Amino acid sequence: MENRIFNSTLRGLTFLFMILLLQACGSKTSAPETTPVPDAIVEIDTKAHSDSKGVGKFTEVKLEAIDPARAELGKAVFTTKCTTCHKLTADKFVGPGLEGITSRRTPEWIMNMITNPELMMKSDPVAKKLFEEILTPMANQNIGDEEARNILEYLRQNDNK
Ligand code: HEC
Repeated sequence: MENRIFNSTLRGLTFLFMILLLQACGSKTSAPETTPVPDAIVEIDTKAHSDSKGVGKFTEVKLEAIDPARAELGKAVFTTKCTTCHKLTADKFVGPGLEGITSRRTPEWIMNMITNPELMMKSDPVAKKLFEEILTPMANQNIGDEEARNILEYLRQNDNK
């Protein structure tokens, strides 16, 4: 007899506990800030202008008038390390043609892509989409910060012709 009362009390308590648990879970999943946006819904046009600064150490690059000496240094690095995959026209080679790149992308995005393409392809939506379209990864060319800045200057010069 006592055992029966004990059992039903226990069942009642278990039931109550389950309800509380369900409520706790329910309130967690319905919080709007934790709802992820599925990738498929965000369509990215890789040819379009993007304001993104990308992912990486370059968060603010200040631009002034194009410095021809810097651009010349950038050209030298570009010619040895980038022309194997990129043209300075709009034509795709292994990678996208880089004509107009400085109006399609921010200086920060370009420098993050040049110095750390692996991180960009993994974490930046535009770089990720480019990789999905081309299916060839951009190789890390061990470009230093100054070199990257010089290449950016060269690309600016190329776009201002
Ligand atoms: C092995 C080939 C390869 C080399 C070498 C290479 N890239 Fe790339 N690059 C790519 C590919 C492929 C992409 C497209 C994105 C991807 O798949 O990772 C790309 C993307 C880019 C982008 C973005 C283009 C866009 O339309 O947004 C820039 C900028 C860029 N590369 C600059 C450079 C520079 C500067 C160098 C030289 C330091 C360089 N790349 C070296 C293959 C290469």
